[in-house]
Amino acid sequence: MRILLVGPGRAGMSLAMAFSSAGHSIVGVVGRTAESARTGAEMVDAGPLTLDEPLPPADLLVMATRDGAIAPVARALAAKELEIESAVHVSGLTSVLALDPLRGRQIQTGSFHPLQTLPNPEAGAARLAGAYIAITADLPLRRRLEELAGDIGAMPFVLEDGDKALYHAAAAAAANFPLAALAMAEDLFAEAGVPWEAARPLVEAVVANAFDMGPRAALTGPVARGDVATVAAQLQAVRTQHPTWQVGFARFVELLARLTGRAEQIEAVLNAEEDD
Ligand SMILES: NC(=O)c1ccc[n+]([C@@H]2O[C@H](COP(=O)([O-])OP(=O)(O)OC[C@H]3O[C@@H](n4cnc5c(N)ncnc54)[C@H](OP(=O)(O)O)[C@@H]3O)[C@@H](O)[C@H]2O)c1
Repeated sequence: MRILLVGPGRAGMSLAMAFSSAGHSIVGVVGRTAESARTGAEMVDAGPLTLDEPLPPADLLVMATRDGAIAPVARALAAKELEIESAVHVSGLTSVLALDPLRGRQIQTGSFHPLQTLPNPEAGAARLAGAYIAITADLPLRRRLEELAGDIGAMPFVLEDGDKALYHAAAAAAANFPLAALAMAEDLFAEAGVPWEAARPLVEAVVANAFDMGPRAALTGPVARGDVATVAAQLQAVRTQHPTWQVGFARFVELLARLTGRAEQIEAVLNAEEDD
């Protein structure tokens, strides 16, 4: 396919590099400034462009600006001479409706969201192989996007436009929430004189279990067992040795107790701890 990239940032350049390696042609890289366009264009041997210039014909326009810029950039593009068959943005949250100005120009619209973290073009392009891609588009564009995902070694799945916000919340829960627990664990280990690296095999095994068995079945530990005395000892140790995490630790215990049906047993321990 002839692909025109708008927004040569982390996601845009990761995708452009992966598309280019898969044999697609990047016909232009459109940046907010000539300088950013040039930097991106050099990586994929394409022409650098800005929105003020005429744009080349393309089978697919990939818009990878930050979320808030999608609708205004779509409006700016729709006011130009365009020979473009289809257009996607790469946001997991934003509705495809943000591309409606292009749809009004008889361009098929959709979204193509990699469920992966793309911190820079090189690492991002490598991580796209094996990643899942959420595709929101009507046929026939959906089929073309599924093929495009396959071309870069990614796995496509269909996401309804009305489910995007919830999907994005789920992605944030999966990617960010565990890190809050890990940051707390890092601090508590440090206070106990244990290097953070020592937790790696444990944490990696837990993540593997979550996918092999499902997150609920993978739960172990004193809360899941209903071992009230151990939970009480842990709460007391955190309160006395690292009080900044007292509330945070108790909240996680409470959440786990609800998840494992131990809420009543654990509530008494949490109440006693609050009284101390
Ligand atoms: N990075 C990820 O891990 C990741 C993963 C999946 C999806 N996404 C999605 O990818 C999109 C971009 O995120 P990002 O992390 O790649 O952000 P980013 O690194 O900030 O990239 C955004 C790019 O868009 C450019 N841009 C802004 N306004 C523009 C305009 N009017 N014309 C042309 N280019 C313009 C920016 O240029 P300036 O720097 O000059 O402003 C920048 O190069 C978001 O929708 C995000 O949800 C990101």
